[in-house]
Amino acid sequence: MRGIEDKVRKIIVCNGVYPEGGHAAPLRQFSRIACSAAALLYVDDSHGIGILGAGPPMPATPYGTGGGGLLRWLGVRSDRILLAGTLGKALGVPVAFVAGSKRVIDRVRSASKAFVHSSPPSIPNVAAALEALRLQELEGDQRRSRLAGLVRRFQYALRSRGVGATSRGLFPIQTVSYWSVREAQQAARFLQQRGIWPVVQLETLIRPDSGVLRFVITALHTLSEIDRTVDVLAVFNRRNGRGALKDI
Ligand SMILES: Cc1ncc(COP(=O)(O)O)c(C=O)c1O
Repeated sequence: MRGIEDKVRKIIVCNGVYPEGGHAAPLRQFSRIACSAAALLYVDDSHGIGILGAGPPMPATPYGTGGGGLLRWLGVRSDRILLAGTLGKALGVPVAFVAGSKRVIDRVRSASKAFVHSSPPSIPNVAAALEALRLQELEGDQRRSRLAGLVRRFQYALRSRGVGATSRGLFPIQTVSYWSVREAQQAARFLQQRGIWPVVQLETLIRPDSGVLRFVITALHTLSEIDRTVDVLAVFNRRNGRGALKDI
């Protein structure tokens, strides 16, 4: 930011929680930089909303409480922040929002091309979003506690079956990495034929020649679904000989 002329409008853009690995952006530091540089900090917290909430994490609420996202988790507030996100991840409804100071939101309403030139979300989607928010307020912490238990079970099952858990934290997108793109594709096909649909990501930044399977765990999954997924992965790895990578 230093060295950029004061007359230029400055903006820092980041994800809140990065789905590859579930790492959180250092928003306290970014917010301090935005203040000292008179910049706007634009955070897309689509992956934090509905998962992370006000800390500190406790055994019964390991993601914090309230599901308000990374800003709540870190306790960061600033009228230099423009927060955007979709409810399409944790809350399952394809409706997005932007939140920020009145001045910035007024400007978004009148100048954002996405806002001015797009149709509004459909009434059923808005109704579903309101219902999702109502449920999240009523029983979100309970569901998140259950979700954390399922994520732990997935990691434990992977380790105990020798599959190799790539993800360490409790972020509900869990990753299993393969030595090659071909092996990841074969593993995905093997799972799909048995009714399990991971997201396949090829050529990751960390190892360009490796392939990654992402498992999106929700509070509605059951323990037996989690265990079965790991069983199927273990069978694939046994048949395949080499198995998943263990050390990314
Ligand atoms: C950070 C981030 N923002 C926005 C989106 C878009 O979400 P939606 O498909 O609900 O519009 C995604 C989708 O993966 C995302 O990862």
